[in-house]
Amino acid sequence: MLNHKLPPTFLAIFGATGDLAKRKLMPALYNLYLDKLLPEQFEIVGVSRAWDEQAFRDNMKQSVADFSRRGVVDDLKWDEFAKRLTFLAGEFDDPKLYCSLAKKCEELKSTWSGEPVQVFYLSTPPSLFPLISDQLGEAGLASRRGLDRIVIEKPFGRDLESAEALNAELLKSFEESQIFRIDHYLGKETVQNIMAFRFANALYEPIWNRRYVDHVQITVAEEVGVEKRGSYYETSGALRDMVQNHILQILCTIAMEPPISFEADEVRNKKVELLKAVRPLDGANPHLYAVRGQYGPGTISGERVPGYRQEEGVDPQSSTESYAALVLHVDNWRWQGVPFYLRTGKRLSQKLSQVVVQFRPVPHQMFPSNVIDNFEPNRLLIDIQPQERITIKFMAKEPGGRMLLKTVPMDFCYEDAFQAVSREAYETLLQEVIEGDTTLFMRSDQERVAWSIVEPLLDAWGMRPATSFPNYAAGSWGPEVSDVLIAQDGRSWFNPQPEYASTP
Ligand code: BG6
Repeated sequence: MLNHKLPPTFLAIFGATGDLAKRKLMPALYNLYLDKLLPEQFEIVGVSRAWDEQAFRDNMKQSVADFSRRGVVDDLKWDEFAKRLTFLAGEFDDPKLYCSLAKKCEELKSTWSGEPVQVFYLSTPPSLFPLISDQLGEAGLASRRGLDRIVIEKPFGRDLESAEALNAELLKSFEESQIFRIDHYLGKETVQNIMAFRFANALYEPIWNRRYVDHVQITVAEEVGVEKRGSYYETSGALRDMVQNHILQILCTIAMEPPISFEADEVRNKKVELLKAVRPLDGANPHLYAVRGQYGPGTISGERVPGYRQEEGVDPQSSTESYAALVLHVDNWRWQGVPFYLRTGKRLSQKLSQVVVQFRPVPHQMFPSNVIDNFEPNRLLIDIQPQERITIKFMAKEPGGRMLLKTVPMDFCYEDAFQAVSREAYETLLQEVIEGDTTLFMRSDQERVAWSIVEPLLDAWGMRPATSFPNYAAGSWGPEVSDVLIAQDGRSWFNPQPEYASTP
């Protein structure tokens, strides 16, 4: 039995033969099905040039087996699910494709009870977004404001101008409330939990400000390189690929003011406010607050891996950054004077997405220095992935006759606390699209202000290609210049110990 409270739903995936559909979308939809979170009446239509219905079903079954956290649970369940999968082959610029789509919707409508929700998921190259959106509009598939929805994958533009142009294109056919711009980090349980941690507990909010916080570090480190996406990554780089979206969204969640309710626009208003408070970057002096890097060959988990310039689809002289670190300041009452250090990179020592909130030292140290084994002010670690935990580091008395102090961790681990593995971000995001909740999606003004934050740096780096690349070895914690950047402020990055990802 599926969810009979949800309206009938028709979900079309454009680019259904692509990687995203295989790795993320279909596994997520199948898991929603298993969890009985899909509407009782639903149909998924793969839209693409190649394949037919059988090929679509077979390929999707294999993808679910390969990429879903649960795999294909059993053949009977899969077969039931697969009955809802159909396929439409055609060219995206051919109006006939959209007529067939509209016809299909009409046919289903006649067998379904109630007005269906129609979701058009664009998991195609970004250059096709305007074309598909226009065609959907022309075919009358975007006209029911509350029920027709379009989902746009990232990247949403490659700078402010192109993002605005894309927005204008989408708005020709859809209204803002119908547009779901994906930033999959917002679907991660651990990112959502930051809101719960901050706003459902009275304990932290009083100290969540410049009086108590010394600085914040946000790290999104990847062990993988560019994999098969070299040609895309060449046009992007770490700043566009990770900072403009995922990292700024984490920053928003950590630093925004408390929303008055959990309504989509209340939450998003606070995020926009925060982004607007970020001090504009000085395009003339990027070296004062930012560094970039590119990986050379190195060793990861005992295996030799090639450098960025040797990756498939990458220019052997490329000056694209695979690492970026920068310092942001937030000019408002809460955060004045508290630096936010952000860093991200590919082929780093380990996969780790983590926020560290470093608190100030106690105002007066009453213990003599000889009783303290390495005094450390309190530190809060929010592990987004791969570990899903929150740890508070505080000083405690070591057992024994003498007063000896030591830093100890207090730990919350998702899996232990809830006896469950977190679901995938795309499960949450697809569920929200079907239910029509935009809280976890980027509003156009958020997109715009996020681009305007990074744009001076993008321009500065674009104008002056790096001369020192490659400047870090695969498997390291990034270029030395990054350590220098943070050391200028008398601080250092909290790199975890190899044996325990959470122990900076
Ligand atoms: C994507 C980037 O948005 O996020 C990729 O384009 C990156 O380059 C990926 O690898 C990281 O996502 P996650 O969920 O694995 O941290």
